Amino acid sequence: NADPRLRQVMTSVVKHLHEVIKEVEPTHDELMAAIQFLTDTGHKCNDWRQEFILLSDVLGATMLVDAINHRRPGGATENTILGPFFVPNSPKRANGDDICLDHKGEPMLVEGRVLDTQGKPVAGASIEVWQTNDDGFYDVQQKGVQPDWNLRGNFTSDADGRYWFRSVRPRFYAIPDDGPVGKLLGRIGRHPNRAAHMHLMVNAPGHEPVISHIFDPDCPYLDQDTVFGVKSSLIADFQRVEDRAERERHGFAGPFWRVH
Ligand code: DHB
Ligand code: FE
Repeated sequence: NADPRLRQVMTSVVKHLHEVIKEVEPTHDELMAAIQFLTDTGHKCNDWRQEFILLSDVLGATMLVDAINHRRPGGATENTILGPFFVPNSPKRANGDDICLDHKGEPMLVEGRVLDTQGKPVAGASIEVWQTNDDGFYDVQQKGVQPDWNLRGNFTSDADGRYWFRSVRPRFYAIPDDGPVGKLLGRIGRHPNRAAHMHLMVNAPGHEPVISHIFDPDCPYLDQDTVFGVKSSLIADFQRVEDRAERERHGFAGPFWRVH
């Protein structure tokens, strides 16, 4: 029982593969090197690391497939890459909580609102957030070094669709570059850095999930994110707040960044 869709896909893959071969005219050794690269990529995969996803990400394939499958009405928040560091079932937090448990970095207050495509507030939505610490690592990359669940949490929107929490300003960081994909990037002169961001996943009954980021407007890698995840609508506004009353109102000891 032939699969017509798979046949269509393979016909296109073979056509374009042959075009690549005719264009670059590889030697037999180069073909063997390509096969070795794919073999190494498979061997680097384990329970917590999927090197083929990394490969899809750095080739821009993941973002392109997402763009094709999640065309949204104008004004709706755009998706961007999920990445390998999402962990389900992160702890429930109350609005206003601080998710930074290692107390490193520049404090920031994130304030947002969940609205449907009609602009009406969505109460009771789940907002899961995750980001690296100030050294550029996720908690799961540094088990025993960072507190468990550092810089992760699951917030719930209030009756007005609002959520807010304290964290630290994100930093740019390198995607795992100690494997075949990282080596490939190095050999073609690409850096492994992701533009500074915080991840958000929003779920509400009866609504399509939103998997997205907030990007830091001052990050030097904004226009060269290694997985092509930046969209201009996702670049947030960071305002420095020094005012004492505002600091006390939100529970900050010193100045902080206000993000929306
Ligand atoms: C992220 C990391 C990756 O290694 C990747 O391929 C995509 C996204 C991230 O942490 O955002
Ligand atoms: Fe990330």
